[in-house]
Amino acid sequence: MQRFPKNFLFGVATSAYQIEGGNRHSDWWYFEKKGKIKARSGLACDHRRKYKQDLELLKKLNIQAYRFSVEWSRLQPKKDKWDKKEIEYYRNILKILKTQGVEPFLTLHHFTNPLWFYRLGGWEKEENIKYFSNFVKRIVKEFKPYVRYWITINEPMALCFHSYIEKRFPPFKNDPLLYFTCLKNLLLAHREAYSVIHQKIKNAQVGLAQNVQYFWPYNTESPRDKLAAYLHNFYRNEIVTKVLYEGKFMFPLGGGEKIKDLKCDFIGFNYYSRTAIKFNSDSFGLGKKIVNPKAKELTQMGWEIYPFGLYKFLLRFGKYKKPIYILENGIATLDDSQRQRFILAHLKQVLKAIKAGIKVKGYFYWSLLDNFEWDYGFRPRFGLIEVNYKNQERKIRKSGLIYAKIANRKAI
Ligand code: FCB
Repeated sequence: MQRFPKNFLFGVATSAYQIEGGNRHSDWWYFEKKGKIKARSGLACDHRRKYKQDLELLKKLNIQAYRFSVEWSRLQPKKDKWDKKEIEYYRNILKILKTQGVEPFLTLHHFTNPLWFYRLGGWEKEENIKYFSNFVKRIVKEFKPYVRYWITINEPMALCFHSYIEKRFPPFKNDPLLYFTCLKNLLLAHREAYSVIHQKIKNAQVGLAQNVQYFWPYNTESPRDKLAAYLHNFYRNEIVTKVLYEGKFMFPLGGGEKIKDLKCDFIGFNYYSRTAIKFNSDSFGLGKKIVNPKAKELTQMGWEIYPFGLYKFLLRFGKYKKPIYILENGIATLDDSQRQRFILAHLKQVLKAIKAGIKVKGYFYWSLLDNFEWDYGFRPRFGLIEVNYKNQERKIRKSGLIYAKIANRKAI
C-alpha cells in the first residue's frame, strides 16, 4: 500500500447549474430555450430538491472536501433583487457539511451568468466587474463563518474559448479580440474577489480553477508540429499561469500594467486529458487538434486518457512552492471498470509528485453525480454515483465504493 500524507484531502466536485435544475434566470437557460444549445438542462439532477440526500451520499463516500458552486442567477435573479430563500438553501448545504466535517471549497463563478448580467454585456465590459464584486461581497457576508477555501472563477480560459472562439457556449461568438477582453476581465474579477474575501476573512485561502490540457506534437519529429504544440501550450496553459503565479503582464491580454498583481493563495487546476497538435498554416500557426490515433483508450467525450500529464503539470506548478489542489479530474464512461482504472492511475501520478517533493494537498474527482455536461447534455456519465434521469434515483457505482475506501485509508 502506498500512503498519502495524513492531511491530504480526498474530495469530489460539482457545479450548481449542472446538478440543481431549474436555473431559469441564467444566460444558459435563456439560450437553451432559444434552441441555441442542443441539450436542455431542465431538472438536471434535481439537486435543488434532493440536496440533503446527496450530501448523505457524500458522507457515505468518506469525502473530506466538497467543491461546489453557488449559482449567481439563483441568488440574484435581478440586478436589484436577492432571493433570501436561495441564500438559505446554500447556507443549509454549508451547515450540513459542517456537521459532517466536510471542508467546503466554494466556487463563486462556474460558467453561468445571470441573464441580466449577460444583457448588460457580461464579461465583455470591464465596468461590469463591479456587479460580480458586489455579488462576492454579499456571499462573503452570508457565508463567512462556514467557508475558508474559495475558488473565484472556474476555468476562465476554457469559458472564453468556448464562448468566443468555438461558439459552443453563450454568447456563441467567434471574435478573438473579445476572447482576450473577456479573459482579462475574468482575471480582473478574480483580483477583485481575492481582495474582497481577504478584507473580511483573515485565514481565507483563495484561488482559481485553471484548466490545463497537455499538448504534444502529432508528429514528434516534425519541427512544425512541435512549434504548433508549443504555441498551443503557451496560449492555453502558460499565459494564465504566468499572469497568476509570476505576476507577469502578458501581451495578448492587453490592458497594460492593469493585469499585474493578481494573487492566489494556492494553485488550483483541472486536468483531464492530452491532445495532439498538427501544424496548420490557416490558424496563425496554432495548428489543429487531433485525437491521438494511437490512443489506447478514449472516454465518452473522445478524450485520451493520459495520467502522466497530471504528473507533468504537478511538476510545472510545483515550481511556485504554493499548496496545490487538483480541483477536477475525472472520466465520462459507461464502463465503470474504466473509471476505477482511471482514478487509480491518476492517483498514482499524484503520489509520485508528492514523493518528488511537490506540495499536493488535495484531489477532487469530477464528479459526485452524473450530471448535465453543458452542450453535450446528459449522455456523458462522469459520476461516482449513477443518476437515473427517469426517476432521479441515485446508485453508488463500484468506482464510488473504491474511491470511498481510498479516501478512508488515504492510501492506494
Ligand atoms: C470542466 C468543467 C466542468 C465539467 C468538466 C467535465 O471543464 O469545469 O464543469 O464540465 O469539464
